[in-house]
Amino acid sequence: MTSTSDLHTGQAANAEALLEVCSVTKRFGGVTAVREANLKLMPGKVTSLIGPNGAGKTTLFNAITGCIPATSGQILVRTAQGLRRIEQLRPDRITRLGIARTFQNIRLFSNLTVLDNVKVGLHPRTRAGMFGAILRPPWVTREEATITRSAMRYLEFCGLEGRDGDVAGSLPYGYQRRLEIARALATGPRLLLLDEPAAGMNPAESRDLLDLIRKILESGVTVFLIEHDMRVVMNISDYIYVLDHGEIIAEGTPAEVRSNPRVIEAYLGSAH
Ligand SMILES: Nc1ncnc2c1ncn2[C@@H]1O[C@H](COP(=O)(O)OP(=O)(O)OP(=O)(O)O)[C@@H](O)[C@H]1O
Ligand SMILES: [Mg+2]
Repeated sequence: MTSTSDLHTGQAANAEALLEVCSVTKRFGGVTAVREANLKLMPGKVTSLIGPNGAGKTTLFNAITGCIPATSGQILVRTAQGLRRIEQLRPDRITRLGIARTFQNIRLFSNLTVLDNVKVGLHPRTRAGMFGAILRPPWVTREEATITRSAMRYLEFCGLEGRDGDVAGSLPYGYQRRLEIARALATGPRLLLLDEPAAGMNPAESRDLLDLIRKILESGVTVFLIEHDMRVVMNISDYIYVLDHGEIIAEGTPAEVRSNPRVIEAYLGSAH
C-alpha cells in the first residue's frame, strides 16, 4: 500500500504515523478545494494545518472524518491490525476507529444541557438501544449512572465543572468551544481534530486553551489543529503544514515554516 512515509523527509522517517493522507483531492464542481495533499500525523504530537481563508483546511478535515468523501486519494489510519483505509467510510465508523473532531462553526445541541451534550458523545460506547431505554432493565439504569459519571469527568477535564446543568446555548463562547472538545473526547479518540478552537477567544481564553491541548496530549491523544491564531500555532505545534489554494506549499517545524518565503507570501501577499 502506498505510504507518504516515502514522500517526506522532514519528519522522523522511520517513525510510524497514526494517520496518513495520500494524494487526496477534493473537488466541488469546478472548484478544487484540496489538490493532491500528502501529510502524516505522528502519534503523541500536535500537527497544525494553517493557510489563508478558503485554502481548503476544513475540507481536508471533512475528508478525514468522512463528512464529505474525497474525490480521489487515500486516507490511512494505523490500527492494531495495521494500516486501514478510511476514505470511503461513514463518519460513525471513523469515530469508532478513534478519530474525533470539533467544528469551525460550533455544533452543539444548544437547547440541551451541558451534561447531555457530553452524553451524546458517549453514546457510541454504550449498549442500551431504544428498547433498553424504554423498558429500562436494571443494567440500563446502571449503565446510565456510569455514563453520567464519565461525562462529568470529561466536563471537569475541560474546565466545565459546575456547568453541567446549564443550557449549552447559554454558555459564553469560549466555554461552548470547550464543551465541543469535551464531547469529542467522550467518544474515546486516539486522534482529535480541532478546527479553529481559538476563534473568538480573548488572549486569556486562548492561553487556557493551550493548557487544555497540552493536557489532551498528556492523556495520550494525538492532535491535528487548524488555527489562525499564530500565537497558539507557533506555541503548541510540533509540525506544521501550510495549505494555499488547496495545495500544501510548505511544511516543517514552527521555526522552519515561519521563515519560509512561500508562507510569508501566501499570508502577506507578494508585496512583502
Ligand atoms: N460543501 C461545499 N460545496 C462547495 N464548495 C465548498 C464546500 N466546502 C468548501 N467549499 C469551497 O472549497 C474551498 C475551501 O474551503 P474550506 O472551507 O475548506 O477553506 P478553509 O481553509 O477552511 O477556510 P477558512 O479559513 O475560511 O475556514 C472554498 O473555495 C470553499 O468555497
Ligand atoms: Mg475552515
